[in-house]
Amino acid sequence: MNNIYLCTPGPTPIPERVQDEMSKPILHHRSVEFQEIFAKVRRMINQMVHNDGETLLLSCSGSGGMEASVASLLQQGDHVVIVESGKFGQRWVELARRYELKADVIKVPWGEAVNPQSIAEKLTSSTKAVLTQACETSTGVYHPIEKIGGLLQSHKDCLFFVDAITALGIHHIDMPKMHIDVLIGGSQKALMCPPGVSTVCLSQRAIDRIKVSQSMYLSLEKELKTQRKDVAAFTPAITIIRGLRVALEMLEEEGFENVYRRHADLSRRVRAVFRKAGFPLFNEDAEAAHGITVVGPNLSWDVDTWLTTCKKQYGLWMAGGQEHLKGKIFRYAHMGHSHQESVDFTLDLLFTSLQSYIDVPSFESLIGE
Ligand SMILES: Cc1ncc(COP(=O)(O)O)c(C=O)c1O
Repeated sequence: MNNIYLCTPGPTPIPERVQDEMSKPILHHRSVEFQEIFAKVRRMINQMVHNDGETLLLSCSGSGGMEASVASLLQQGDHVVIVESGKFGQRWVELARRYELKADVIKVPWGEAVNPQSIAEKLTSSTKAVLTQACETSTGVYHPIEKIGGLLQSHKDCLFFVDAITALGIHHIDMPKMHIDVLIGGSQKALMCPPGVSTVCLSQRAIDRIKVSQSMYLSLEKELKTQRKDVAAFTPAITIIRGLRVALEMLEEEGFENVYRRHADLSRRVRAVFRKAGFPLFNEDAEAAHGITVVGPNLSWDVDTWLTTCKKQYGLWMAGGQEHLKGKIFRYAHMGHSHQESVDFTLDLLFTSLQSYIDVPSFESLIGE
């Protein structure tokens, strides 16, 4: 196969060092050798987000982590407040419906961040949880997590669930400072691994609230009990967890603050280039997530056909819009193993490919001066 330049918002490119680790002979999951790796990954993720509780590794995609959290921490009839600002907010809403929660849904126009005040207005003394994304990947927005967490401080019974699947390893997340109780990640985003592991970080407050899950497989109670002995309740994604150890070591070597700065710098650079080319950006600068740049709407060319051309002719993979945004926006991701050189290379391809569709400047001329 020709080269693939993966600029989709997950999976993302996997560093060679991680690939090499994952190509080693498989270990048995109940061996001391694997248990050490398992414990280290749990510890490293927990430290990365300054958690005072514990982190669990579930062998499922990110949505499995979301469902396990709802199934293990909430029960039928619980009042919850959900931020729905795109495709992934809808996932919280669907989970609430399936688990028969009493949900107050705050619908935010796609592309915009939620106003924390609208959450405050829905909170009651019996609200059991607020559920949101940190980054809503379908629109590229980053919600004001710290401000929302601040609001919840006086609501002692209300847990704060944050889907940080495209924020973990990109934005600095400090669970205690942001009053986050449940933080969900996925291996295939900025953790630079294949899909298959969801990380679920639980504050001590959340741990104290865990109940027996309605789900046999997605049970945080069962996982907590066994993972404290460094084994998962079921056969875990051994190979990916080995990859995660190396990926996390790479982030640690770079320094987490440098990793977050790198993503912020990439976001600024990419936005400046698109802006200079005269393209509309879908998010305000202050609300833009750092791992993805969303361009549109009102683009003057056939976006979906162009995305297929990019893939077939240039090996450049990006994502289009979903639902009503289909054909109206494109999403260019720069999360995880992404650096100025890789971004410049793929942006150059992007602008070259566009020349057959519209009159655009070359990438070189956009970064010149
Ligand atoms: C913010 C967000 N939440 C949830 C998901 C779903 O994760 P998965 O596809 O790993 O189940 C994604 C996937 O892109 C996401 O970006």
